Amino acid sequence: MNGFTLAHLSDVHLGPLPRFAFRYWNTKRVLGYLNWHRGRKFGHVRPVLDRLVADLKAQTPDHIAVSGDLVNIGLPGEYIAAERWLTELGSPNGVTVVPGNHDIYTHLTDDPGYRRWAPYMTPNSAGAGFSPPGHDGFPFVRCFDAVALIGLNSAVPTRPFYAGGRLGPDQWAAAAKVLAELGAKGFHRVVLIHHPPLPGLASPPKALEDAVALDSVLKLQGAELVLYGHNHRSKTVAINGPQGRGHVVGVPSASLGRHHKGEDLARYHLFRFRTDGGPTEMVARGLREPHGPIVEIERQLLPAGFNVARLA
Ligand SMILES: [Fe+2]
Ligand SMILES: [Fe+2]
Repeated sequence: MNGFTLAHLSDVHLGPLPRFAFRYWNTKRVLGYLNWHRGRKFGHVRPVLDRLVADLKAQTPDHIAVSGDLVNIGLPGEYIAAERWLTELGSPNGVTVVPGNHDIYTHLTDDPGYRRWAPYMTPNSAGAGFSPPGHDGFPFVRCFDAVALIGLNSAVPTRPFYAGGRLGPDQWAAAAKVLAELGAKGFHRVVLIHHPPLPGLASPPKALEDAVALDSVLKLQGAELVLYGHNHRSKTVAINGPQGRGHVVGVPSASLGRHHKGEDLARYHLFRFRTDGGPTEMVARGLREPHGPIVEIERQLLPAGFNVARLA
């Protein structure tokens, strides 16, 4: 293996909202609809996303991770449009997706919803043996030589004004087992989740309910990298597992073209895992200013965890 570059983007919030039948109206969707038309649609714009994705592809990453919030108010037409966008982004072999709270927005009885993207959320052949059965398909594992992607689903339908998430005991118990098995085999473990995975990284109405439990799992079993979205802000936090240090990295929205509620403008991250046991290089690229070019915003080295032997 001659190194591995993983690109991470999130929260594309694809517009416009499609027309939809009266039976899909409920309080949560009406509020989401108004929120979109009163503000969000002016910020999350397709030309910005398209320019960001073009820049990302020019970096020729080995794989792309998308951490949810592809859509806005959970309408069938939105899922179909997002499926089309994913197809343009890459094949299911080259792109991994986990859902966000806007993708599991409210109960949807007569449409597959985010499951339209299932080919992007299933184990690959190398990861199938590590992916536990049950738990509604999560966690799933995809292995790319020495790098293992572990996809979690933190999204659950919530009441109006709440955007929190929950893994549930089945999923975080399964995640603990998966992390232990992959760690024992020397994989560089990369967890993908929509909500911030640690306590204190989001306000209570937007937070992961069982962040304390996931925090314990990460500390007990270790993970070299945990990638999340949801906050639309860039943040890096170190975590200490039993075998060494890992990093928790949040990426802003990939489509935000104007300032909105203090969120970062459109950005994506690249992680370059090295073959010589050196630190992972993280590069952030995106907009420094509205209407500006896509440029490098930040470059830092993340000290390697203990699992570098397999990469060498
Ligand atoms: Fe979002
Ligand atoms: Fe979100």
